[in-house]
Amino acid sequence: MEYNIEEIRHKLKKYGQEHLLNFYDLLDEKMQEKLLEQLNRIDYELINSLYEKTKKGFNHEESKIEPIDFIDKYKLNEEYKYYEEIGKKAIKEGKLAAVTMAGGQGTRLGHSGPKGTYDIGLDCHKSLFELLCDYLKEESKKYDVQIPWFIMTSRENNAETIDFFKKNKYFGYEKNIHFFIQGELPMIDTEGKILIGEDGLVKEAADGHGGVYESLLKSGMVDKMKELGIEWVFIGGVDNCLVKMVDPILMGIAIDKNVTAAGKSVVKANPHEKVGAFCKKNGRPSVIEYSEITDEMAEATDENGNLLYGESHILCNLFNISAIERMGKEPLPYHSAFKKATYLDKNGKVVVPDTPNAYKFEAFLFDAFGEVDDMAILRVKREEEFAPVKNATGVDSPETARKLYKNFYKLN
Ligand code: UTP
Repeated sequence: MEYNIEEIRHKLKKYGQEHLLNFYDLLDEKMQEKLLEQLNRIDYELINSLYEKTKKGFNHEESKIEPIDFIDKYKLNEEYKYYEEIGKKAIKEGKLAAVTMAGGQGTRLGHSGPKGTYDIGLDCHKSLFELLCDYLKEESKKYDVQIPWFIMTSRENNAETIDFFKKNKYFGYEKNIHFFIQGELPMIDTEGKILIGEDGLVKEAADGHGGVYESLLKSGMVDKMKELGIEWVFIGGVDNCLVKMVDPILMGIAIDKNVTAAGKSVVKANPHEKVGAFCKKNGRPSVIEYSEITDEMAEATDENGNLLYGESHILCNLFNISAIERMGKEPLPYHSAFKKATYLDKNGKVVVPDTPNAYKFEAFLFDAFGEVDDMAILRVKREEEFAPVKNATGVDSPETARKLYKNFYKLN
């Protein structure tokens, strides 16, 4: 594509970002083209407003928070079979697809490649991607269908992710795997200036797991799903090695209750566990973050002793394709995080900061839940469905995930 550099220069000046062309002449032709593509695409109004919010705080307006109803999978009795039949039928008819969000940076884990390539240390030394793929292959066999697998990467890790799959012959599941790339937003410094990365291009970062709906739509994956006859889409993270993407009970409940979204929860380990909890916000489904909840709310219980806000959101949700279409069209709020980011200073010198120096903006998947009128919440067992790999050591680390995985699959 041809870009008009003078027009771009003019736009940059208007938004106080003209430094972004400072090293343009030093780049080769291919990189120049890439830079112009970025500069042409960036929404400078949005970036300016996000910067203003970093100064004022990102507090979203006051809302009315209430508990949300949930169903305990293991207290269903005879309804269990009923929901199971409905869900099984839909799965066998090929109506389910799985989406794995693998665009995160995995900064806490500190692994240099895409998080999905991480080996949690099982004797078989399989990567997270392979563990998830093994599970999908097994379920496909069980229901005698091929469950399509859509993998969201970031611009940063897309090539490396695809190389990894190629090298591993797509774990024998090639024809069912589709990759798509999530959106990005530039990182800015404390003065609101967009950073230039070491390569001379705009420093951009993935726009958070909330970017999944929009990128499913924009990348054409929703159309592909429709062509395949998909009606239901499970969306989960790459870093939960026990994620159960194919759950007839969850599907059966969503279908039977005629809702377009359903989420799985595990009960909080204690009232103050640092996890988000399902709730209703202004009458609509939502997740309240641990930082937003008062002690009184966190500890409140119902007549059966259940915590009112005790259903942790574990990033395991099921959506009707119509809900994804709706969510993908609505802009989500961005949250800011102050992070360390290597950049080029005004003299073209690479600066590797020791302390955070830049804002990164991310949308959260659950901020879109309010788009649907109602959501079915299914409480499942932590030891069966939730083994996250977040930190290098301690809680939610490869060590804890490995243990949970081995216990569940009865490996020694
Ligand atoms: P986390 O929020 O735990 O982030 O992502 P992370 O990137 O894995 O790790 P940190 O915070 O940098 O240490 C939860 C899930 O959402 C995906 C991740 O890949 C993971 O599966 N995710 C997160 C994306 O796909 N894109 C994003 O922009 C952010």
